[in-house]
Amino acid sequence: MVIKTAEFVKSSQKWQDCPEPTMPEYAFIGRSNVGKSSLINAMMNHKDLAKTSQTPGKTQLINNFLVNETWSLTDLPGYGYARVSKSLRKDFEKLITNYILNRRNLVNLFVLVDIRHTPQKIDLEFMQWLGESSVPFSIVFTKADKLKPGASERNVEVYKNELLKTWEDLPDLYITSAEKKEGVDLILKYIQKTNDFLVKNKVRFDD
Ligand code: GTP
Ligand code: MG
Repeated sequence: MVIKTAEFVKSSQKWQDCPEPTMPEYAFIGRSNVGKSSLINAMMNHKDLAKTSQTPGKTQLINNFLVNETWSLTDLPGYGYARVSKSLRKDFEKLITNYILNRRNLVNLFVLVDIRHTPQKIDLEFMQWLGESSVPFSIVFTKADKLKPGASERNVEVYKNELLKTWEDLPDLYITSAEKKEGVDLILKYIQKTNDFLVKNKVRFDD
């Protein structure tokens, strides 16, 4: 997909304040600092459309972007950021779960995990919850440039085996690097294909 336009629409504190749910929406989620905002920028071919930071917890609101005037991209706050108070963490959790369960035009959630780490309990539990809540999602491995190619593949295999302990089928998996713009084309291809399907089947979200 060619990105002709990508514009920031608004930041919201709760799902009710997000833009009207008229267009298909794709959201990025994952632990704080995993690279959500960086990946969005890489996909949009834009340096700082979504704000990035070396300090975890940068994205604290639901940020909506409009792409090619036909679909919507959401940058969500990271979960599991240890350095905020328990009550604030609970607030984030509530914001995220309410968005996921109520956003009518949410087509797919991209769950980002750092390719360097072994499967983390918090991510696995989150995906389990998505499954139980029938929320469609894909897994996106980030920061692949930080590993040698062989190591990336090995870590993905470990992750797949972990998932297969509880899942019958694996979700779509993407190996990416925002730094090297790797894997972003495959995500965009998936979004294009899905958008085409929705148009062909005249799917509407707003009625
Ligand atoms: P929060 O908004 O705080 O939840 O973080 P985030 O998930 O949006 O992460 P962000 O995109 O801000 O990136 C966090 C840090 O990781 C920044 O220092 C980025 O430069 C770095 N980073 C992100 N993606 C990559 C990547 O693909 N490769 C490398 N080497 N660094 C990356
Ligand atoms: Mg961010």
